Amino acid sequence: MATTPGWALGSLLPTLLLGFTAGQPFIILTGPSQRTSPGNSVPFNCTAGPFNSQHFSRDFNVTWLKDSDEHPASAQRLVTDNEGNDFITSKAWLTLARQDVSSEITCKVTHRALAESLQTTMKLSQVLRVVPTLKITTEHSGTSVHAQDRVNLTCHVRHFYPHHLQLTWMQNKRMIQTLVSPQATRNPDGTYSLEHMWQAEVTPDEHEFACWVVHDEQPPLKTNFTLQAQEHRQGKGRSAQPQPHKLQGPLQRSEPGTKIQLAYTSSGFLTSQVTVTWLKNKHQLPKPQTSVLRSGHTYNVTSSVLVPLTDDDVLSHVVCYVEHKLMLFFQKTIDLDQYLRVPPAVTVSQSSTSSSLVAVTCLVQRFYPQNVHLTWLEDCRTLKSTEQPTSKKNDDGSYTLENVLLVNASVQGPERVLTCMVEHEGQLPKRANLILSTAAHTTCKLTGSTGPEMPALIFVVFLLGLKVLLVMSFTVTYICRRWNL
Ligand SMILES: *[C@@H]1O[C@H](CO)[C@@H](O)[C@H](O)[C@H]1NC(C)=O
Ligand SMILES: *[C@@H]1O[C@H](CO)[C@@H](O)[C@H](O)[C@H]1NC(C)=O
Ligand SMILES: *[C@@H]1O[C@H](CO)[C@@H](O)[C@H](O)[C@H]1NC(C)=O
Ligand SMILES: *[C@@H]1O[C@H](CO)[C@@H](O)[C@H](O)[C@H]1NC(C)=O
Ligand SMILES: *[C@@H]1O[C@H](CO)[C@@H](O)[C@H](O)[C@H]1NC(C)=O
Repeated sequence: MATTPGWALGSLLPTLLLGFTAGQPFIILTGPSQRTSPGNSVPFNCTAGPFNSQHFSRDFNVTWLKDSDEHPASAQRLVTDNEGNDFITSKAWLTLARQDVSSEITCKVTHRALAESLQTTMKLSQVLRVVPTLKITTEHSGTSVHAQDRVNLTCHVRHFYPHHLQLTWMQNKRMIQTLVSPQATRNPDGTYSLEHMWQAEVTPDEHEFACWVVHDEQPPLKTNFTLQAQEHRQGKGRSAQPQPHKLQGPLQRSEPGTKIQLAYTSSGFLTSQVTVTWLKNKHQLPKPQTSVLRSGHTYNVTSSVLVPLTDDDVLSHVVCYVEHKLMLFFQKTIDLDQYLRVPPAVTVSQSSTSSSLVAVTCLVQRFYPQNVHLTWLEDCRTLKSTEQPTSKKNDDGSYTLENVLLVNASVQGPERVLTCMVEHEGQLPKRANLILSTAAHTTCKLTGSTGPEMPALIFVVFLLGLKVLLVMSFTVTYICRRWNL
């Protein structure tokens, strides 16, 4: 009786040995040769063998499992190769889903000749391609994009598999940035998602931004976003542009040393975050008075500033900027010459052209605006009106004018007083007097040129001025005494 197990063993051994002569049984699971998108059915083949056909028992089973669930398959078949070896094959079709990235398929073969079942597993992620969805977003709600703002555009690439992709930003059909395999995060379903941000600058022009994704050698995916500053969205009812802008200055000209007030007013702003800046010749003017008042659903903005005037301000200007954050609503340059009156400096001097004729020159310097009216008087009597001389423009924008009166010095008489009277911009006339000097004075001045002569001339004028004062004081004293008598 002790031999029975031996016999049993003896009859089993040849079966096993014969079975293994053709080679150790193995199992192979093959899937589709290319990745496939969710929603499609793909076949899987399972082959196990070889089993020796002579000793082969038909008692075998093939089981398919998706994860831990049994999955129906085509009936198992036996195929015999040229060498008489049997192979078991089976085919299963599976409809792929997006969440199958973390699923697997198992083929299990049980055979009476095998102590343990043969089984093999394949990850479905090997055969799956999940195409991402694309979207561009901004933190702005879409209505409040202002020119010169920086806008963060985010390209969202969601739920893709496998991990590798290439992302490209385009602006107006030009490539601006390309990233290969940017960092992605894994979703619970096994797919990946990523976001990439592009900081775009908004200009008043229209800009088309696009985010392109090339994933798994597939045709590119693309999503667009058009950025447009609001200035161009007028007429849609929700314009951010206030209307109209008014700038006002004084109605009359003012003289250097005073200050003028400039004022800006506008209404219809959608925001109260408005700043008004005033610059005179690129220097910010201090203490502008700005107020933003709610008016229904919009805001009214007023701002005024005091601008000091100097006599060099003919070419000066003031710029008014009205801004919200970095968007410029309004900018205007105001030339200050329209508000400025620079009164002339009037001087009279004399020189001689011949012994009898004396040239008396009236110099009207640095005045603005251009129009002046010049009159000569001799001893308070208006001389025959001369043709109005033309003024010359100075580099600083002001004007200068010179007029020469020829006087016959040999006409004898009491001291002759010549007056140059200049009327400018409806102001009280400015006068400059000259007491005609004798021929002796004039002859000595004939020698040099006008340039070096000037100090001497000024000295003479100064002396003459003293003389006039003396004469006048004597006259006044004399008249006063006469009147008192
Ligand atoms: C599965 O087996 C069948 C028949 O043997 C064959 O035609 C097919 O190409 C195989 N498919 C795969 C994915 O191996
Ligand atoms: C195959 O399945 C049948 C039916 O469920 C079962 O009777 C048989 O024992 C199985 N054979 C093996 C080798 O597992
Ligand atoms: C845009 O992104 C940058 C960098 O992350 C950030 O500093 C900035 O505040 C963002 N801008 C806006 C308007 O959210
Ligand atoms: C705002 O300006 C508009 C237009 O000038 C004017 O009609 C309105 O009264 C102003 N509102 C306030 C609150 O000042
Ligand atoms: C100047 O006046 C004198 C005296 O009245 C006269 O004789 C002379 O001709 C005048 N000279 C000129 C240039 O007019």
